[in-house]
Amino acid sequence: RTGGTDAAKRAAGETAAELVDDGTVVGLGTGSTAAFAIRAIGRRVDAGLDVRGVATSFAARELARECGIPLVELPDVTGVEPGDCGVGAGIDLAIDGADQVADGDLIKGGGAAHAREKLVDDAADRFVVVVDRSKVTETLDDPVPVEVLPDARGSVADRVADLGGEATLRTADRKDGPVVTDNGNLVVDCAFGRIDDPDALATRLSVLPGVVEHGLFVGIADEVYVGDDGGDVDVRW
Ligand code: A5P
Repeated sequence: RTGGTDAAKRAAGETAAELVDDGTVVGLGTGSTAAFAIRAIGRRVDAGLDVRGVATSFAARELARECGIPLVELPDVTGVEPGDCGVGAGIDLAIDGADQVADGDLIKGGGAAHAREKLVDDAADRFVVVVDRSKVTETLDDPVPVEVLPDARGSVADRVADLGGEATLRTADRKDGPVVTDNGNLVVDCAFGRIDDPDALATRLSVLPGVVEHGLFVGIADEVYVGDDGGDVDVRW
């Protein structure tokens, strides 16, 4: 879904950036809409805001650095010490985009970053999604991006077919061969048509051997900020 305008994306992203409180840790999403939020947070940092960011991708990290946002890694805010698992999440707010939104559930992964996005967004005390109106639909029906171990692409495609879907290996326009994620894995985009029960499909995809993460975000978002071309933002769910 690429129908949204920059004005609508900017409205959603910049409004969500105002939610960031002084002295907090914020998850920084991936994609063109989240980028408006990152740039706005950067301007607030210039003006004196004390915040630390946790990036959801290589691209988000690069943009945050360019904007002067101090960054920390997830283990730094979860209290992980060598040899243990740490305590608690430690992210106050995450702001991230989505490819499609229906009834508060999301499809993400258009930028192949959904594995780390889910880790960061789910760990946040509050997860705010930023989208333009073109992303909001009655039901989810876009293909679901699934990050897989490279050797598992064939077996996952078979199992997706058993589930009634069709898997396509993602390739890039300006690169020979498949898209490789920040984690060194591949992405198969799995078309299921209309997804009537996202929760059930999420569970079925999660248990497939070789699946690292899929792009169905069910029951994770706290609010969705929907921007329109006039600069207004509707807060939903
Ligand atoms: C990245 O993998 C995605 O989940 C993005 O968050 C999603 O594609 C939204 O991107 P845009 O805001 O550029 O549409």
